[in-house]
Amino acid sequence: MRHCFPTALALLAVLAMGACRWVLPERFAVNAPLLNMLFGGGIEAPDTATVPELFETPPGLNVGLYASGLANPRMLRPTPGGHLLVSLSRAGQIVLLEPDRDGDGLPDGRRVLLEELAGPNSLELHEGWLVIGVGDGVARVRFDPQTGETSGELESLVSGLPTGGNHWTRTARYGPDGHLYVTIGSSCNACIEDDPRRAAMLRYAADGSGEEIYATGLRNSVGFDWHPVTGALYATDNGRDLLGNDFPPCELNRVVHGGFYGWPFVNGDGIADPDLGAEPDPRIPEARPPEFGFRAHNAPLGITFVRNPAAPAWLRGAALVALHGSWNRTSKDGYKVVSLHWQADGSVVERDFLTGFLTGEEVIGRPVDVAEGPDGSLFVSDDYAGAIYRVTAGAASARGTAPTAATVLAARAPTAEPEALALGAALYEEFACAGCHETERAVEGVVPVPLKELGQRYSQASLAAFLERPTPPMPFFPMEDRERAALASHLLQTDR
Ligand code: HEC
Repeated sequence: MRHCFPTALALLAVLAMGACRWVLPERFAVNAPLLNMLFGGGIEAPDTATVPELFETPPGLNVGLYASGLANPRMLRPTPGGHLLVSLSRAGQIVLLEPDRDGDGLPDGRRVLLEELAGPNSLELHEGWLVIGVGDGVARVRFDPQTGETSGELESLVSGLPTGGNHWTRTARYGPDGHLYVTIGSSCNACIEDDPRRAAMLRYAADGSGEEIYATGLRNSVGFDWHPVTGALYATDNGRDLLGNDFPPCELNRVVHGGFYGWPFVNGDGIADPDLGAEPDPRIPEARPPEFGFRAHNAPLGITFVRNPAAPAWLRGAALVALHGSWNRTSKDGYKVVSLHWQADGSVVERDFLTGFLTGEEVIGRPVDVAEGPDGSLFVSDDYAGAIYRVTAGAASARGTAPTAATVLAARAPTAEPEALALGAALYEEFACAGCHETERAVEGVVPVPLKELGQRYSQASLAAFLERPTPPMPFFPMEDRERAALASHLLQTDR
């Protein structure tokens, strides 16, 4: 009972701040779906028919409603058998959505797989186990990824992690090195923690033994994933609150062993914190800047690299990140899924991947996690509307067809000149070049740059070289040499 009083006070304070959002200074602004923030309350999901109208994806992708009526769905894990596991953290359940075997774009059923868990969050499949990040540790149960059945008792893999305060979710994943990595958010907005395992990433042997602190200064890294080619570990991180609308950035960090990522002393790229920046902490000079800064308060949570070899070329190898959306801003920001694209010079460009959750100040959803199914479907959980959305490649279809490899693969085996031109034309469409280069087909808000008479300025070789190192803001698109050559031929042949 003792903690009820402060909780009630905090509730009142937040509600009062919400009511006063035009009176209080900007740094104390509260502007978010309040019931969702406090109790996980939400709204109903839109119906299947209106989803394609409400949401927007890049050209060539479609979005459909995959499931609704879930109580605060948080993290996702598709199985190799085509099931989708969903954690319902507040209800203490893991729900299994059956595979879509009849191809109607919806799971063929759902069942509660596990219940009475204490704050289940992350879901991981590892060597016949379903591994779950729970409030004070990591639990596991035997799980058959083909049938979707558990067996035996739930057992504890890691216990005794610090609990209480802010940031109650725990994320546990196995790395390519076979170790178990666990993130624990800070207990507060900005403070010096008593327990060094808070605001940190821990690492264990596969069996949960041998705890070590792997990285520190990570305020709240709910999502992390390993780059499928380089094996580098990237984690999202939520920047602190109460410093105004536009500071500090939320972060994508490339996490290395022993790395210190700044919190609570340093924000973003080496900017001393106004409250704690003067502390004499020996790690401060070593604070690592983020690999990429999201806009302040965007709240990046789940992240996944696109591994599907049949994904559109512009999307392959990109990282998808769910932005839960701001609460501490006078106008709302975030509330979408974005894709991150690494450029030739190592910088990262953010593009919209799934939008429509926020229109003006009206919210119809808050993305939490994004995950890739075995057929390349990309699932997005929304803990505000209690929904899961599925994004697929291919022609628009109410049935939410799975991506077809056919177009991509067909475009990949040219030999003679006409084939090369066709490949170039296909790549031009696949990368949605028209969105920035054609008046008629320009993406809203973009001033198109016409591609005219390129032959007067470029040879085929110099145009291919340009595509390999484009001048910013023209983005870099990953292609093989052969593909760049084909695209250059196509561009030289066609004025736009
Ligand atoms: C996000 C917008 C965007 C997309 C998508 C994009 N470009 Fe560009 N591109 C630009 C901008 C902006 C420039 C001008 C850069 C500059 O100022 O030099 C440019 C320049 C170019 C140029 C040089 C034009 C000249 O006159 O020198 C070529 C060629 C080109 N883009 C081809 C492509 C192709 C091919 C694709 C698809 C694979 C593509 N672009 C996709 C934004 C884009």
